[in-house]
Amino acid sequence: MDTLELINGFRKFFGEGGQPCHLYFAPGRVNLIGEHTDYNGGYVLPVSIHLGTYLAVRISGRDEFALRSLQFKDGGALTRPGIRNKTISGWMTYPAGILNEFFDCGVDIPGIEMLFGGNIPLGSGLSSSASIEMVTAFALNELLGLKWPATKLIMLAQHAENHYVGMNCGIMDQFAVAMGSPERAIFLNCSTLEYESVPADMGDAVLIVTDSRKSRSLTQSAYNARRSECENALMHLRKGKPADNLSGYTTVEFERLKHLIPNETLLRRARHVITENDRVFRCVEALRNGSQNRFGELMYESHVSLRDDYEVSCDELDILVEESMDCPGVFGSRMTGAGFGGCTVTLVMRDQAPAFMTKLRNHYFRRAGLEPGFYPVDSSRRLEKLAVVPSCR
Ligand code: GLA
Repeated sequence: MDTLELINGFRKFFGEGGQPCHLYFAPGRVNLIGEHTDYNGGYVLPVSIHLGTYLAVRISGRDEFALRSLQFKDGGALTRPGIRNKTISGWMTYPAGILNEFFDCGVDIPGIEMLFGGNIPLGSGLSSSASIEMVTAFALNELLGLKWPATKLIMLAQHAENHYVGMNCGIMDQFAVAMGSPERAIFLNCSTLEYESVPADMGDAVLIVTDSRKSRSLTQSAYNARRSECENALMHLRKGKPADNLSGYTTVEFERLKHLIPNETLLRRARHVITENDRVFRCVEALRNGSQNRFGELMYESHVSLRDDYEVSCDELDILVEESMDCPGVFGSRMTGAGFGGCTVTLVMRDQAPAFMTKLRNHYFRRAGLEPGFYPVDSSRRLEKLAVVPSCR
């Protein structure tokens, strides 16, 4: 996928001439640690990746919003009432949700033509949806000369995902896609949105994303259910100490107060969130000290907590993590993203990475019957405008 393919695709769908065509790119993201903490006011450590979403936009002057994709067959022209009434399904829900947010803010958007193209494997937990949302918001902001700050666009995209798409997600994905920069990880406090850009230098080790190719199912309902469980657990802990969210408790406080949670499942959910926050801090410290061993141990601990306490892993992800333990040169591995399928992320010695991928592929195929996908993490891209093509010629 490149800009030439996008321009050619744009000509095919919408024809040449007219206003200039503007090209944008938004990356995807992989979260190194800090899973299911964002909507609990906690800490996360994502990096943006080179896989992402391309968008070509042109003002058409027609009273409609034409959405097309190089990846998906469905697409078409939406009207403002159609967007307002949510008569949209599939991938178009994401850009439509953003358009709807701009309408809510009183922005008068002229008719436009938009062509999306991307290379993030779908449903893999690498934030293809946040990438589509952010590229749309960024493009509209730029094209219409609104000059809204990045944080406004991030909040607006999260709001669209929560209220238009119906996924009650936290802020991590939109934030990572918008603020990610080459070779840096984002150490973000999701309560205050204060963040530090930490050098993601892994020394002689590399990060590899492995796609389990297990299609995710029931993610939205199970995800929203976890959120409610966390709110429930918080209600009980508050009887011992007031706090705005689960991240308002240290691991020591949790040990002291956990008897207040009468239900074993709720207790495990809270324990994951509170210990995971602690692991994010320790991971950032390991990164700063260049301690690959410590970083890897924390990745494994995070996976166990997500598997046993938070119960968002699945057999395929567990097999990938378990098998990685037997591969020479591997420091650690864990599921990344919402879970229930999708990807793992693994820290492995650079010179052992090819052997790791071969061995893991064979063992995973034997046990899970699926061919995994591998993506060495390359954080060279960021959210940006790429070019203006006059008359799309
Ligand atoms: C999804 C959500 C994020 C976050 C992760 C889990 O990616 O969109 O907000 O909650 O799951 O860490």
